Amino acid sequence: MSALQSVSLITQNPKMLNLIERINKVADSDSSILIIGETGVGKEVFADYIHRLSNRGQNPIVKIGLAALPTELMESELFGFEKGSFTNADRSKKGMFELADTGTIFLDDIDDSPLNIQAKLLRVLESNEVRHIGGTKAIPVNTRLISASKVEIKDLVEVKLFRQDLYYRINTVQLRIPPLRDRKEDIPLLVKHFLKRFAREKELDISNDALQALMDYKWPGNVRELRNVIQRASLFTEDVIKISDFPDDFAKFSDNEKIINACHKCFASGEMSMKEVVECLEKKIITEAITDAKGNQSEAARNLGLKLSTLRDKIKKFDIEI
Ligand SMILES: Nc1ncnc2c1ncn2[C@@H]1O[C@H](COP(=O)(O)OP(=O)(O)OP(=O)(O)O)[C@@H](O)[C@H]1O
Ligand SMILES: [Mg+2]
Repeated sequence: MSALQSVSLITQNPKMLNLIERINKVADSDSSILIIGETGVGKEVFADYIHRLSNRGQNPIVKIGLAALPTELMESELFGFEKGSFTNADRSKKGMFELADTGTIFLDDIDDSPLNIQAKLLRVLESNEVRHIGGTKAIPVNTRLISASKVEIKDLVEVKLFRQDLYYRINTVQLRIPPLRDRKEDIPLLVKHFLKRFAREKELDISNDALQALMDYKWPGNVRELRNVIQRASLFTEDVIKISDFPDDFAKFSDNEKIINACHKCFASGEMSMKEVVECLEKKIITEAITDAKGNQSEAARNLGLKLSTLRDKIKKFDIEI
């Protein structure tokens, strides 16, 4: 298998395909790349893809998540240290930049780096040399930098939480990965991919309703959340995945989402006035509450937080069949 095939980057979304086209052009150039995107959109997948595609692809990619590290550890992890440079330093240790020599260093959550680390990072990137903590020797390093952030770094620059000079240095090429809710056409492909990965031997399928529910959901956790939902569903299913195989709150949320999307469509297309959309929504919610309560109006009123008389008025007004 070629190195490139070992990284799955599944998409058919035009914006994503455009990003991949741009990557194909810059992968070999050693330019610093900043990847911005919400949690779970695939920032690390992209970093791996760029590295594998580049002429450094057979050399190491070294990843370090800056959000999880306390400042002191961040410094020693990134730049290394000499024996005796601090308590417990009973031997010297290489830093991530050295380990990534001839390869790529992936600085995840770079927005979480404190200003003193930023100053040191800038020095390394400008000079292509690191110095161990407690050391005096300059060690040459040859690494390609890919960084990732969940937030707009330029906003941090504005409030002086991020150095502008470092921002320019890491941001030679910027890739923005769209959230999953803005590329719904990727959902069926990803579902297929995860079903194959998690239940290869079962040959699972997915019902149309269940797939539609996945398409309607907003995916705050993006591809990672989708992967988890599919992984879980595939554990408990032997043939066809149904909505009932998804987490309860997911199915409920998805119902509400469907209604809201439908209302939005009616209003945005000019088909209905706002008053008509609101009445249509009210009618739908009441009808569903009555169905859920198996026709028991007192129970439906209670669940809706309405007086029974108000519910009866609305049933009459909207001509709801019981
Ligand atoms: N396009 C894709 N094709 C296949 N798998 C993907 C894709 N995008 C994301 N994934 C999968 O989704 C999960 C999350 O991806 P990844 O770790 O790259 O996200 P992230 O943006 O780095 O998230 P975080 O900000 O939380 O670190 C991983 O299991 C990854 O393999
Ligand atoms: Mg990540």
